[in-house]
Order: sequence, then C-alpha cells, then structure tokens
Amino acid sequence: MRINRRQFLSSAAGGVALAALPRTVLSAKDDGFIELIAGPMKQKLHPSSPVRSDLWTYNNMTPGPEIRVSQGARVRVRLTNNLEEPTTVHWHGIRIDNRMDGVAGLTQDAVPPGETFDYEFVAPDAGTYWYHAHNKSWNQVARGLYGPLIVEEAEPTYDRDHDLTLVIDDWRLNSDGALDLSSLGSLMDWSHGGRLGNWMTVNGESLPTFDLRAGESYRLRLINASNSRVLELDPVKLGARVLAYDGQPLPAPTLLDYSPFLLGPAQRVDLLVVPDEDFALEEVSGDEPFAFAAFSVSVGAAEPEPVPTLPLNAIPEPDLSKAVTVRLNMTGGAMGGFTDIVYQGKKIEGEDFRRTRQVWAFNGVANLAEEPLFRASRGETIVLETVNDTGWVHAMHLHGHHFRVTERSGATVDEEQPWRDTFLIGPQQTTKIAFVADNPGMWLLHCHMLEHAAAGMNTWFEVG
Ligand code: C2O
Ligand code: CU
Repeated sequence: MRINRRQFLSSAAGGVALAALPRTVLSAKDDGFIELIAGPMKQKLHPSSPVRSDLWTYNNMTPGPEIRVSQGARVRVRLTNNLEEPTTVHWHGIRIDNRMDGVAGLTQDAVPPGETFDYEFVAPDAGTYWYHAHNKSWNQVARGLYGPLIVEEAEPTYDRDHDLTLVIDDWRLNSDGALDLSSLGSLMDWSHGGRLGNWMTVNGESLPTFDLRAGESYRLRLINASNSRVLELDPVKLGARVLAYDGQPLPAPTLLDYSPFLLGPAQRVDLLVVPDEDFALEEVSGDEPFAFAAFSVSVGAAEPEPVPTLPLNAIPEPDLSKAVTVRLNMTGGAMGGFTDIVYQGKKIEGEDFRRTRQVWAFNGVANLAEEPLFRASRGETIVLETVNDTGWVHAMHLHGHHFRVTERSGATVDEEQPWRDTFLIGPQQTTKIAFVADNPGMWLLHCHMLEHAAAGMNTWFEVG
C-alpha cells in the first residue's frame, strides 16, 4: 500500500498546521527512577477526523516522553504495565548490558499486566536512540508504544534550541481517520511488505511547524518508528548534511546530494540544516510528496555560525584479517514461494502457514531456534554475510552492537562505511557487515519490519 495522499490530504487541506508542542522530557539527572507507564489511551491521529484512536502508549502520549540522559550516566527506568497483555521495553541501539535489552523470551520474561520491571543500564555512546515495546512488537509498536532516547555528549554540541527530535510514524487509518485495528496482524502484511500506513505524524502530530532562525545550525534527529515503512526523503532540497547514522556520528558532516534518501524502520539520521527560508520535510515515495514536518524560518544571525561536529564514540574496529564469517540466508515471503521453512523442528506445509503464520526463514528456520545462529568468543570479529533471497527489502537489526558494512553484492565498498545498528538490504542483494562481538550475552538479530520479524525473521547469537 502506498501512502494515499489524495484521500487524506484533501480532507486535511482545510485543517490548520499545529505548532510543534514542546516535548515532555524526562531526564535521569537525580539518579532516581524514570517512570514509564504503558497503558491504553485515546488520541486523535488525523486533524480533521472527529474520532480518537485507541492507542497504547507510555505515560499517556505517543511517542512516549523523550528520555534524555548524559553519556555514561546510569539510567534507571521503572516500567509499569497497565496493558491487557505482557510487555517489555527495548533500548534500541544502546550497546547495553544484555540483561537489560528487553527482548521478551530471550533476555527476560515479558512483564505481565499489573506488574513492574526495573531497567538499569549505562548508555556508553552519545547519540539518537529510541525505546519501544519488544513483545509482540508488530502489535504494540503499531499502537504507539515507543519513544525517543537521547544520549547527550558530555558537552552538548548543539544547545536545546538547535537540537530537535522528530519521531516519525506512519499509521494505517480507517476511513474515519482512526487507527485501523481490524487489519492488525493481517497475514497479507506479514507475507508482503509489512504493515504500511496511509498517514504520517511527527511526535504524534500531523504536519507540525517548527520555528527556526535563518543562518543558524540545527540538528534534526529523525527517528523512523514505523512498523515497516522505508521512508524516502529528499535531502537535496534542504542542502542537508548528515551528522550521524543510528546514533553514531560521522567524522565530519557529510552533504547528502542524492535522492531519495532511504530511512528504514528503526533507523535514525541526524541532519544538520542551516536554513535560509521556510521548508518542509517530505516523504516522496508516492505520486505526490507528503509533507510531514514544516519549518518556519525567521530572520536570524547575519553571519552563518560555524558548524559544530560531533565527537565520535569509542567503538572497537573489526579486524577483518581474523574474522569469522557467518552466513545468513533470507528466504520466504510472497513471490519467493514458502518452501522449505522449518518451524519448531517441523517443516511447514500447506495450510500450516495459516496456523503458524511463519512465512520467512533465516537459514531455513523460522523464528527463534533452540540453538543460536552462532556463538562468538568475546572480542572476536564477526563478518555476517546476509543473502536476501526474497523479493522484498528488509531492515536488518543487530542488537547490542554497531557494525560497518564491508561488502555489497560481491563488491568491497571503497570508503569506510558508517557505524550502524540497522541496515537495509534489497531483493536479491548480498551484504556483508562486520563487528566486534564484545558484549557478552544473548543477542537478537532480526528484520525490523515488525511483521517480518513476527513471521519468522528472527534469530539470535551468543557472545561468551
Ligand atoms: Cu528496535 Cu529488536 O529492536
Ligand atoms: Cu523484512
């Protein structure tokens, strides 16, 4: 499904652009617990719809409150579950203590309704991260259980006036403009491109306007919280430079000079923008661009300010000369034929697909196997060779580590690639990534198109 701009833009055309509200920010400076309460709430997702949607949120807002902590600080969060089903919180992109990774069924039991769980961890890297539910996330994230997690540099590089967080989501609304609950879990979505929406919000608002001043340098932290949509953006229009991908800064801000720029589910990009006139951020995959954030630019500094670069985080560099290579074959999905998929020790056949809902596989096996994909000893360099033998793009996410891409479809990439925690891989592509397995524990490796993960694209590895 493409974003159906016509249907919704026509109804919104007479609507007002809402000025971006100041975000609720929780910080952990006093060393006490930050409270996150997961529960149901009602919120309007479309400005011209009379209907409020039935959402699941943290602290009665979607996205949940922005959690801001200083690099290296101890973060304490108390999750209270007021939902009707068990839940957990995962701290996406944080090179975290494994016990705190929040993966239901792997690193902890899901927290039952009415109970609490205390998360306590150190965030070693400054940058743009996010948190989200990690139990039945295809359902829980689609309903709104996510929020931004910002780790500040020891000396914040951009002050709070020049540092904006934009949590982007695409929602599937029904004809009333309310969240379409009836299609949640559709096997069609699970076996195709995942749940795609038809309406976009930024920080829970429709087309918010941010006020900026001309000539000043702004850091825009974009977080793609969609279940499955790969956002297609047009940075050339903005003359935007990339400061960071997936939380990790580049050595120098780099001009984005191609279009479209793809931001996959769960990926982040920090853009540096020095505006001179009003502009909008647009999603350009459809017939017409979909503006989702507006920027109103007033007269500012006469001279452009110097552009601050961000300090790098200390991530161990892979040693390719001593690497162990692990192969990951991705199969299944519509058009690829659902052949030879083993689930819970049995080959799935015929009507079993409807019952098990497992239609994708890694190395022939759908979903968490008893045995890990591989075991690494601590400090070992792992090269993961992913072969996408499906007709679909995927957004592969490695828990607990950042990696570099070293090869795409047989060709060594010439320049050093940025650190990432999630990479996009197109149909019939092969991508090699390398990382140092230096974080002990059991780590998930999965497609972040949440329907694909639920339908089989999930495995794990163990670092000793
Ligand atoms: Cu963003 Cu396994 O998660
Ligand atoms: Cu996928």
